[in-house]
Amino acid sequence: MLKKIKNKTVNNSPIGIFDSGLGGLTVMSAINKALPLENLIYFGDTARVPYGSKSKDIVIKYSKEIASFLMKHKVKLIVVACNTASAFALAVLKKTLEVPVIGVIEPGSKAAVCASKNKKIGVIGTEGTINSGSYPREIDKISKCEVYQQACPLLVPLVEEGWNDEEITDVIVKKYMKPLLSKRIDTLVLGCTHYPLLKKTFEKNAGSKVILIDSAEATAGEVKNVLNKKRLFADEKSRKFLRFYVSDNPDKFKSIGSRFFSKKISCVKKIECFG
Ligand code: DGL
Repeated sequence: MLKKIKNKTVNNSPIGIFDSGLGGLTVMSAINKALPLENLIYFGDTARVPYGSKSKDIVIKYSKEIASFLMKHKVKLIVVACNTASAFALAVLKKTLEVPVIGVIEPGSKAAVCASKNKKIGVIGTEGTINSGSYPREIDKISKCEVYQQACPLLVPLVEEGWNDEEITDVIVKKYMKPLLSKRIDTLVLGCTHYPLLKKTFEKNAGSKVILIDSAEATAGEVKNVLNKKRLFADEKSRKFLRFYVSDNPDKFKSIGSRFFSKKISCVKKIECFG
């Protein structure tokens, strides 16, 4: 699919995006907005979600299986649109795949360091992401900051249930935020693909002085940079498809997924589980 047009190299192969389930659709939505001409393929591992409470070895195994599924669709770049999979499997995928692989942790960390004035950054995520120490490590590579972390295991199920604006969600967010706010953070990384759906609740509880970092937009920016650097952009009339695959429950994915993707999802194909 690589061709040259007036000295410009173009590549109309799709970009592959994956997550443990629905959450990565927030990343896909940002990529869709930033790169409207690109063909996109999404895989949500709805049969095996959540990844956030699973071991590193299992998350690596699942991520490798999904990456090889995407490679069969001849993707030109893979986005690991899941914080837990980025924390555990990104290095392995980068080493073994022949296409560029982008995770969500590095772009989110860069955006947080840029935003923070007092260099006190809060990070919230799944148990897997927080215990991996990936965000503090990544932030430390960029600048010396104080990083305070908080695992929020109750939030993914609440978002999956659609309880984004319920009182109970507000109470739980308040409790998770308290130790971070006591450290006077001025920036909070939403280090889980589900949390952008709770932005309003976080804004309310963190107050106007705390800047929220949604790694979806930062990741879309990084995808654009890599396509530009490697001259992999699709040409102008090329958007032919947005495809969605899941490992279970395509109908649930279709109905709840539209909230994450901020657009109607009309066709979802179930593929048999790997392994
Ligand atoms: N997608 C996961 C993440 O961003 C959250 C859901 C899960 O635990 O699998 O960490």
